[in-house]
Amino acid sequence: MAGNKTFTMLKPDAVEKGHIGAILDQITASGFRIVAMKMTQMSKMEAEQFYAIHKERPFFGELVEYMTRGPIVAAILEKDNAVEDFRALIGATNPEEAAEGTIRKKYAASIGENAIHGSDSDENAAIEGSFHFAQKNVF
Ligand code: RTP
Ligand code: MG
Repeated sequence: MAGNKTFTMLKPDAVEKGHIGAILDQITASGFRIVAMKMTQMSKMEAEQFYAIHKERPFFGELVEYMTRGPIVAAILEKDNAVEDFRALIGATNPEEAAEGTIRKKYAASIGENAIHGSDSDENAAIEGSFHFAQKNVF
């Protein structure tokens, strides 16, 4: 059975451009409930750990540089079928391939700077959520 939680980050480019409010509005209007949220800046070590799965990829250095260059907004979201529905809401990794109306289509600049993260499985949603939030701060 699909889980009901996912994890997201509004990435540094989205925060820099002032899109926090508009993106959160689209997320909640799409039926997701925010059950944990904070603004934070990841250290190089945290970003390397968070994206460890990509460490052999050619873009890893750029990805860590990008994700640490400014604050992000991290959140845990709740909805039936959360992971799949949220990936549909954010759109394809490359905004040029993202469907019309998706968050990446509207706010992402490129495949590297693509405005928002969404967990890709229930298992990773749980790992990523607990990476950023103590259980007592999940409501
Ligand atoms: P995310 O994990 O951030 O939600 O993104 P995703 O699943 O759609 O894409 P993934 O393959 O997990 O890639 C993670 C992030 O790495 C950057 N990236 N850059 N320059 C490139 O070719 C490239 N490819 C990926 C993006 O920031 C992507 O979201
Ligand atoms: Mg991913």
